[in-house]
Amino acid sequence: MRKKIVAGNWKMNLEYSEGISLFSEIVNMVKDEKKGDQLAIICAPYIHLHSLAKLGGNAISIGAQNCHQKESGAYTGEISAKMIKSVGCEYVIIGHSERRQYFAESDELLAEKTVIALANGLTPLFCIGETLDERNNGSYFDVLKSQLVNGVFGLSNADFSKVVIAYEPVWAIGTGLTASSAQAQEVHAFIRKEIAAKYDTAIAEETSILYGGSCNPKNAAELFAQEDIDGGLIGGASLKSRDFLDIIKAFNS
Ligand code: 13P
Repeated sequence: MRKKIVAGNWKMNLEYSEGISLFSEIVNMVKDEKKGDQLAIICAPYIHLHSLAKLGGNAISIGAQNCHQKESGAYTGEISAKMIKSVGCEYVIIGHSERRQYFAESDELLAEKTVIALANGLTPLFCIGETLDERNNGSYFDVLKSQLVNGVFGLSNADFSKVVIAYEPVWAIGTGLTASSAQAQEVHAFIRKEIAAKYDTAIAEETSILYGGSCNPKNAAELFAQEDIDGGLIGGASLKSRDFLDIIKAFNS
């Protein structure tokens, strides 16, 4: 059975001490709420990762928000997948729309990052999503398919089986506009169908597909109740321990 996942993406928020105290609160609360097959992940800024991985125990897994596409070398200021793995992380977000938009990350670059993450034992949380224009002009299925084809469909069956997909419509991120559960389910079913066509039905059925974009304690239960929505990638609401916990509990409601 595919995993149910709630992953927080702290983005570029929280200085070190704030991160430690929020994370400690979350760990204490989550311990009692998370069910057996359910995963809680926090994707934090690089400087928090080492400490959080130590504090997380079995309750929460840790992820980075990006990695460099090369193994190592003269890339001043960059962080490699191997370094991320070496501090106890298990996950890395790849292809977030903010990286695509503000750092001009192309599908081809993201494909390289996915390969290096997997080679270093990290599970990529690979993000795809359309802009408002692309939604309104009806090209969103084409856009999403091309992000999948160029970003992750070059992977072998074995490698793709380790990837988590996150559908994050750009128009819903940080805007308070959430995709309706029907809009999200339509896209998630489409993604699963494309995975089945490229790989096979068994792989498609085992792939966790998360929804992200203004997900909050009020809308999480309805979103997560959809057949093809296996959890959420949570921005703003992951910065409040109570909200993050309530989103985790949305699976159980
Ligand atoms: P918000 O939940 O703040 O809309 O952000 C979603 C997101 O970008 C998670 O990666």
